[in-house]
Amino acid sequence: MENKKIVLAVSAGIAAYKAVELLRLLMKEGAEVQVAMSANAGQFVTPLTFEALSGKPVYHQIFDAKNSGDMEHIRVAENADLMLVVPATASTIGKMANGLADDALSNLYLAFKGSVMVAPAMNDGMWQNPAVQDNIAKLTSHGVEFVEPEQGELACGAIGPGRLSDLDTIMGRVRNHFNQLQDLQGMRILVTAGPTHEPLDPVRYLSNPSSGKMGYAVAERAKARGAEVVLISGPTHLNPPAGIKFEPCKTAAEMNSLVQEHFLECDVLVMSAAVGDFTAAKLEKEKIKKQGEEGRTLKLVATKDILMEASKIKTRQFVVGFAAETQNLIESALEKLRKKKLDLIVANDISAPGIGFQSDNNQVTLIGSDEKIENLPRMTKKEIANILLDKIPSRARGE
Ligand SMILES: Cc1cc2nc3c(=O)[nH]c(=O)nc-3n(C[C@H](O)[C@H](O)[C@H](O)COP(=O)(O)O)c2cc1C
Repeated sequence: MENKKIVLAVSAGIAAYKAVELLRLLMKEGAEVQVAMSANAGQFVTPLTFEALSGKPVYHQIFDAKNSGDMEHIRVAENADLMLVVPATASTIGKMANGLADDALSNLYLAFKGSVMVAPAMNDGMWQNPAVQDNIAKLTSHGVEFVEPEQGELACGAIGPGRLSDLDTIMGRVRNHFNQLQDLQGMRILVTAGPTHEPLDPVRYLSNPSSGKMGYAVAERAKARGAEVVLISGPTHLNPPAGIKFEPCKTAAEMNSLVQEHFLECDVLVMSAAVGDFTAAKLEKEKIKKQGEEGRTLKLVATKDILMEASKIKTRQFVVGFAAETQNLIESALEKLRKKKLDLIVANDISAPGIGFQSDNNQVTLIGSDEKIENLPRMTKKEIANILLDKIPSRARGE
């Protein structure tokens, strides 16, 4: 953290006293810290405490004649590498998510163009309130990083989630933030995610339970590591990561044309979408009527194999495929790797409980073009995404 400029923004939670210790820890590691406070935070800790420890005036009043003249909310924000909101109250999170700016902290946040990390702390009821969770989801989609609160005894006497994350954890996250690899800078990565919907009639479609979490994790990690990312996604409930190009689609045919459109400009294709293998031979114009006891036979035809199409026009691209199987996992993955000229295949057994589709975790096997098999333990999809991105050789970068 040597010479890193951090704005420590304190809002009016009971955990505000912990921000005093956090200030000390940040300064001890060499960070240059400017403290800002919400209008209410002074009810818990005085600006004087932060001023004395940081050796700098604290930014806490927007209508202070001294500060307003030189537009301090913009000046303070311009120079910082990171804005760290600790503790973040439900109210401050709400203001940040909705663009409200009625005090020093919220003005500073809106004016700030750099990275923001937020450590919330509040009563368990407030934390679980859907309004607060919606605001957190919104801020996450804007690229704000959260240090999740812990489970435990809260200041109000209740036991539950909402206690400010341990200061060591917050310090670890800040260190990671500054140490984050930018090893994919200059690389263009095309990612597909989610299921496809193959319409049968105006109201029905053929699909699968893919949540899109794996592909979105790859897109988010690749962006964080400096890559330029295009994410082509079938219908999911996820918010696309901030700062990427997002191309939504529905059917396998739409996904195929988007992949072909972007493929040649990219250095890497990560094909994690669960693309439908079949589509209806005939799309009914009207809703198919219920027909007696015997049901109905649908004629399906194969969709275009996107990876196969890409392999035909592939020049130097590093191509990653996924194999989700219920049987003969390794043999099927190897066959797909060879047939589609992949550089890497990620195989996972979707019949195993608690992993795969919908889950935040997965247990996968990686097979490279040398056909070496690497079994990974169960881990989060973000961790898998990072390992997968580690496998991209620097030669994939098109100069
Ligand atoms: C004793 C006390 C403790 C509080 N602790 C918290 C807290 O931990 N988290 C929180 O979200 N709000 C807490 N509040 C409520 C906030 O102080 C209140 O919502 C305030 O308007 C937040 O202001 P700010 O977000 O602008 O700083 C507390 C209030 C009191 C009186």
